[in-house]
Amino acid sequence: MAAAVLLLMVSLLHLLAAQGPGVLFIKSGSDLLLDANTTLRISENAFLVWKFKEIQNIVRFMFGSQNATLHQSWRDRARLFKTNYSLLLNKVTVSDSGSYGALFSGDDDKYVAKYKVQVQDPVSPVHLTVSSSSSSSLSCNLTVTCSTGNSNIHAAIQCHNQTCSLENSTMHSPHLYIYLESDHIICNHSNQVSRETNKTEIKSYCSTKPVSRAVYLQTGDSVFLNVTETDVPANFFILSWKFSGLNDLMITFSPHEKPHVHPNYSSRMDYDVKKYFVKLRNLQKADSGVYTAQATTFQVKTVAEYNVTVQDPVSPVKMAVNQREFSSVSLSCNLTVTCSTEDAHISSTFTCDNKTCRLEGGERSQITKSAASLQVQLSGQSIICNHSNQISWTKDVIKIQDHCIQYGETERYSSNYLVRSHYQTLSIHLKN
Ligand SMILES: *[C@@H]1O[C@H](CO)[C@@H](O)[C@H](O)[C@H]1NC(C)=O
Ligand SMILES: *[C@@H]1O[C@H](CO)[C@@H](O)[C@H](O)[C@H]1NC(C)=O
Ligand SMILES: *[C@@H]1O[C@H](CO)[C@@H](O)[C@H](O)[C@H]1NC(C)=O
Ligand SMILES: *[C@@H]1O[C@H](CO)[C@@H](O)[C@H](O)[C@H]1NC(C)=O
Ligand SMILES: *[C@@H]1O[C@H](CO)[C@@H](O)[C@H](O)[C@H]1NC(C)=O
Ligand SMILES: *[C@@H]1O[C@H](CO)[C@@H](O)[C@H](O)[C@H]1NC(C)=O
Ligand SMILES: *[C@@H]1O[C@H](CO)[C@@H](O)[C@H](O)[C@H]1NC(C)=O
Ligand SMILES: *[C@@H]1O[C@H](CO)[C@@H](O)[C@H](O)[C@H]1NC(C)=O
Ligand SMILES: *[C@@H]1O[C@H](CO)[C@@H](O)[C@H](O)[C@H]1NC(C)=O
Ligand SMILES: *[C@@H]1O[C@H](CO)[C@@H](O)[C@H](O)[C@H]1NC(C)=O
Ligand SMILES: *[C@@H]1O[C@H](CO)[C@@H](O)[C@H](O)[C@H]1NC(C)=O
Ligand SMILES: *[C@@H]1O[C@H](CO)[C@@H](O)[C@H](O)[C@H]1NC(C)=O
Repeated sequence: MAAAVLLLMVSLLHLLAAQGPGVLFIKSGSDLLLDANTTLRISENAFLVWKFKEIQNIVRFMFGSQNATLHQSWRDRARLFKTNYSLLLNKVTVSDSGSYGALFSGDDDKYVAKYKVQVQDPVSPVHLTVSSSSSSSLSCNLTVTCSTGNSNIHAAIQCHNQTCSLENSTMHSPHLYIYLESDHIICNHSNQVSRETNKTEIKSYCSTKPVSRAVYLQTGDSVFLNVTETDVPANFFILSWKFSGLNDLMITFSPHEKPHVHPNYSSRMDYDVKKYFVKLRNLQKADSGVYTAQATTFQVKTVAEYNVTVQDPVSPVKMAVNQREFSSVSLSCNLTVTCSTEDAHISSTFTCDNKTCRLEGGERSQITKSAASLQVQLSGQSIICNHSNQISWTKDVIKIQDHCIQYGETERYSSNYLVRSHYQTLSIHLKN
């Protein structure tokens, strides 16, 4: 065997380029096949060693004897193909990440293949949660959170007139993304070997249903229930108004047809066949409830919703002082007052010390049977009782000085008061 190595042909010279090979990403648990990618002209004594991290020998292959010797640590999970010198590693784990190289040893040593291998575990599933922070008939704002076992990102989404944009995306993980794709919000958790996505339809959070508007009116008033024209789909078949307290429709509009008005409303409803508003006159408390306008195409779309509350004006209130204690020595005065209406009353106690009054137990308020609010509060030197609902209020006031003597005396007869207290002090001195 004169000439040792006859010829070595390396078919993939770029693998040996100075900057080194690119990284090969592989999912943990899968098999890794590393090609030597060479066509070798070999001698009896030549051999090839697959190395891990340059120092550990995985397998040594003697060309002469065709003997492949696996290192103990790889014995059960590595294999060398004698036909093409490729190395097969079974079920790799993250700890198998590192550099691999096939060193050909003939006249001199030469790497005929080099790889940088990165074994990655597949990413965990990603959870998508969306909360709607606000919405109106045209726009809505959402907060999106994508979370995995150990990281999460948030984004704000703003939709206006059916067009949504991603306003803000905080990135706590390089592998987690939030993006919008047509009508969906997508969370993407990925690395080089795997991808988990979770998506949801925007419209399940951003309904185009208009928000219910609260309207408060007094018995006998009229109300205009409007439809925003841009919310009405073109070519609807029927547009109808419905009241929650009535099983039937109040009125239906159809193109090219006279509207149909429910007999219950015919005497007190006006309407407009172009703008589809209705005006209800002489409202009674029984008219309180939710009014919705729906336009029907092949789908049904709610185009307006009002929550109407009809109220009577609140009744008058009367406040009375039930109990009064005062001391001219300590200059303190306590008052217990009761504020009454026809269907409710509240008692409150005020303690005054040297002209500073407090309401014991803080401000008191109560919702009456007729859904009005009854409230007692202290304002300066006055006690105020307020009875109110959304359309009216009544009140009664008590001046503390009218009931606590020392106030009146110091203010109206201040010289007398001072003289009297002077004498009191004097008499104490005399006794002693
Ligand atoms: C090996 O060489 C062949 C042919 O040049 C090429 O297509 C292939 O990508 C190479 N393999 C590796 C792992 O570089
Ligand atoms: C291969 O080589 C090893 C150690 O170098 C030796 O123990 C073994 O017997 C050889 N096998 C064959 C088939 O030659
Ligand atoms: C090397 O041989 C193995 C087993 O036959 C085969 O799976 C692999 O694709 C071969 N590699 C090349 C580069 O031909
Ligand atoms: C998507 O996220 C939801 C909400 O967190 C979760 O219940 C669901 O299992 C996730 N789906 C997938 C495919 O990960
Ligand atoms: C959504 O947010 C934008 C900007 O903060 C604001 O202008 C808009 O009024 C919001 N929309 C709603 C329905 O609250
Ligand atoms: C909503 O968008 C449509 C088309 O994108 C446009 O024609 C329409 O005027 C917009 N409406 C409003 C209220 O901005
Ligand atoms: C975007 O994020 C910044 C910082 O977290 C915050 O101050 C800002 O209010 C956010 N903007 C929106 C539109 O949510
Ligand atoms: C997830 O993100 C990766 C990286 O940005 C991207 O390549 C991939 O296309 C995304 N997946 C989906 C389903 O869009
Ligand atoms: C309906 O529109 C009319 C005219 O613009 C307005 O006066 C009325 O307050 C609106 N009705 C409601 C319930 O907002
Ligand atoms: C309508 O308004 C009343 C009074 O404010 C309230 O109690 C009720 O929950 C509202 N109903 C709807 C459907 O919003
Ligand atoms: C007023 O009430 C307070 C607290 O209950 C008490 O300490 C004080 O003595 C009372 N004053 C009078 C004049 O009764
Ligand atoms: C009463 O209040 C006045 C002014 O706030 C203060 O100067 C005086 O010392 C107080 N007297 C007592 C007995 O607390």
